[in-house]
Amino acid sequence: MALIESFTDERETQLSREFLDQGYVVVDVDDKARLDAFRREIVKIACAHIGCGPPEDDGVFLNAIHEKVAVEDVNALRLHVFQQLNNNAWARPTFLSLARSAVDAVVGNELAMQNKVNLSIQMPNDPTSVLPVHADPWSAETPFEVVQWMPIVDVYDTKAMFILPPEANRTVRGKMSNLPNGGRDFDLFEEFKDDFRWIAVPYGKVLVFSPLLLHGNIMNVTPETRWSFNCRLTGLFTPYTSEEKCLGRFYTPITPKVLSRVGMNYKEPEGFDG
Ligand SMILES: [Fe+2]
Repeated sequence: MALIESFTDERETQLSREFLDQGYVVVDVDDKARLDAFRREIVKIACAHIGCGPPEDDGVFLNAIHEKVAVEDVNALRLHVFQQLNNNAWARPTFLSLARSAVDAVVGNELAMQNKVNLSIQMPNDPTSVLPVHADPWSAETPFEVVQWMPIVDVYDTKAMFILPPEANRTVRGKMSNLPNGGRDFDLFEEFKDDFRWIAVPYGKVLVFSPLLLHGNIMNVTPETRWSFNCRLTGLFTPYTSEEKCLGRFYTPITPKVLSRVGMNYKEPEGFDG
């Protein structure tokens, strides 16, 4: 039928439902060849730091990076790749473009984006790369944001991150509010161990999740190194909750529509009182 009764298309409705039920969606990247090109650039930057030639297989090289770099040197490698990546004008546009259709469906099409794309490298059995259970608004981030989280190797089991589904997350406040320091020192992982969901993300897919939900990772005990990138996105016209993490400082407007520019620049004539 040519007439329609919904303002959203089928995919957006489906993604919205999944996001609400699970707190996240995992979708195919919008352009696999572009993901391969992005990964190739990362490998080139890493090789320049390590002093090795280009590998035959980028995935194999990244998964086995712990055979080339000692665990105590992983942070220097991570910082080098992070800085070199973010020096490129293509870094954020390319990164976002890989999840753009899902971000548009979940967040909107007028977006503000965190200023840098972050990188995490988690080698097998490295206790220093553990990110304890937390929710991002605890560090003053806006509740209106999502995190685009994209690995460039397959992630699974303890190589993945975990998230607490919305249903279990609704009980957290109650459990924490009576504890000292708002429950921040409480062993949340132990408390919700059976409820956390590990999010497997094969190479070629991208995760978009709500960081309002408790999330984190434990030590990677798989035999492979995890490489994942993340960046926060929010609607351009949403409120911000802190001076530190606000528009212009932590986020930049990236896709304002022309009419928003027109509206923002409108000035009423002097003496005009409607
Ligand atoms: Fe987080």
